[in-house]
Amino acid sequence: MIYKDQTKEVLENELKIEKGIYEGILKENVSIDISRGKPCSEQLDLSNELMSILSTTVLPAGAADVRNYGGLEGLMAMREIFADILGVKPNQVIAGDNSSLKMMYDTVQSCMQFGTLGSTPWNKLDKVKFLCPSPGYDRHFTVASAFGIELVTVPINEFGPVMDIVEALVVSDASIKGIWCVPKYSNPTGVTFSDEVVERLAKMECAADDFRIFWDNAYIVHDLYDEKVTLKNIYNSCVNAETTDRVFMFASTSKITLPGAGVACFAGSEANVADIISRMKFQTIGPNKVNQLAHAQFLKDADGVRALMKKHADIIRPKFQAIINVLEDEFRDSDIASWSNPLGGYFISYNVMTGCAKRVYELCKKAGLVITTVGDTYPYGRDDRDSNIRIAPTCTNTNELDKACQILVCSTKIACLEKIVSENE
Ligand SMILES: Cc1ncc(COP(=O)(O)O)c(C=O)c1O
Repeated sequence: MIYKDQTKEVLENELKIEKGIYEGILKENVSIDISRGKPCSEQLDLSNELMSILSTTVLPAGAADVRNYGGLEGLMAMREIFADILGVKPNQVIAGDNSSLKMMYDTVQSCMQFGTLGSTPWNKLDKVKFLCPSPGYDRHFTVASAFGIELVTVPINEFGPVMDIVEALVVSDASIKGIWCVPKYSNPTGVTFSDEVVERLAKMECAADDFRIFWDNAYIVHDLYDEKVTLKNIYNSCVNAETTDRVFMFASTSKITLPGAGVACFAGSEANVADIISRMKFQTIGPNKVNQLAHAQFLKDADGVRALMKKHADIIRPKFQAIINVLEDEFRDSDIASWSNPLGGYFISYNVMTGCAKRVYELCKKAGLVITTVGDTYPYGRDDRDSNIRIAPTCTNTNELDKACQILVCSTKIACLEKIVSENE
């Protein structure tokens, strides 16, 4: 139904029907959380073997004993797996402990405190700004904010960040030191950056010599379908553009094996790796190499990772499809909602009529459905259009998803109808 074309009577009647449905839902004491992208237990079970794969007889790996101190760069077998996935050489990878977000935080902190490759420490400058393609990943924004970095929102479209805007900003403002990017199956839009966007990021002229791309490849192997989406190798583009040190890459096995006990990585030019290691050596005497060995034995190689990811996809694809089917049935021809239909990653990005997302959030919350706080997908929690809602369907079962969809649809209709009716008064 195109709501805007309806008479006031029709709209009021629709609103009454939806409120009746909503009252019914309130009595059901629902409690469902689709706010964060977490694997479900069936997915975690795929990696249970990690708990038992090692025995004391296999523990020492090569010359180094994984039980002991040392090996700041991580175990070569894990560096090789990440290198293969990211399209770089193993010596360009540092394999660490479980969280890539922590590695991103540490990298930003290091740039603030020490600069990068000999540049002025960023915290000695009057102002530091980061570009934030939005909607984007809330924790990227909060990491930068935690260091007093000013967040500059730039729009993202189906090809990635809008490059005319990005280029105009970075060429004219030397206080812009970084850009956050989730280049494949972006959180939350599901967008994969086009070849042209990757190229332009690599070669754009920047006023700051020490400008860095924070290339968070959290979803690089997280396809939902056999149809693969390819992402151009930004490191190669940087080499060609003679901006080899511009990109800091991150990834992890959080949504491959176990988020709480996985392996994360930093990758970049050899100079960047050496720079990071030169600071890390004061921070730690080495990562958890026992866990890295277990991962290397369990995953075997990049093909092993891809085979495991197919099993994940089989578990979570139906959950995405269930939501998309409901949204198609309910809103295909409507003027109040649109959504992404991602080919990978962990999220559906759902946009409701401008000015209605917060109301949808409140209605869902009261009915027992927790969705990501509206605004979180934008810097400073400010979605000026009050429209974007992030849906994370993975950690729910089918019954919960049916109910979650019912609540989301009903809340969307109520919020939008209320707005249209009040504007018609
Ligand atoms: C884009 C993105 N980067 C990083 C992370 C967190 O990664 P890790 O578990 O390796 O810290 C997430 C988690 O949802 C994410 O969506």
